[in-house]
Amino acid sequence: MADMVNTVLILNGPNLNMLGTREPEIYGSQTLADIEALCAGQAEGLGVGIDFRQSNAEGELVDWIQGAPDCAAAIIINAGAYTHTSVALLDALRTANLPVIEVHLSNIFQREKFRHESYISQAAAGVICGFGAHGYEMALQAAARILADG
Ligand code: DQA
Repeated sequence: MADMVNTVLILNGPNLNMLGTREPEIYGSQTLADIEALCAGQAEGLGVGIDFRQSNAEGELVDWIQGAPDCAAAIIINAGAYTHTSVALLDALRTANLPVIEVHLSNIFQREKFRHESYISQAAAGVICGFGAHGYEMALQAAARILADG
């Protein structure tokens, strides 16, 4: 049974609600709902729970990260473009003090130079990028391992 001690909060930032129609040559054809379903299946197999959210608003993401210690034991985050700009998200992640796994659908290092820098990475246990939706499953596996290892 999933409870706070084995719930993984999966946060998605701006424009990820547009997956499926957004630049499919970069992000693929799966929608965010497809990715959520993928994560739910993976989580069941791993014996962890998920709380899957998306927001276009930086402040809402900060609020959710601030609340994370009360509802989750780890955070998976694809902060979208805020990855490359947001000191506020970095500060919130550091304050939450939970294991963080950063995910990107695309290989950000193969893209424009401004995408090569991530503020989030400084608070992350690890980063998975370039594997599309499968990266979320990999991140869940990593989170489950971190939680099992205590
Ligand atoms: C992204 C990469 C970011 O550079 C971009 O702004 C996104 C999506 C990814 O999943 O590949 O919105 O985080």
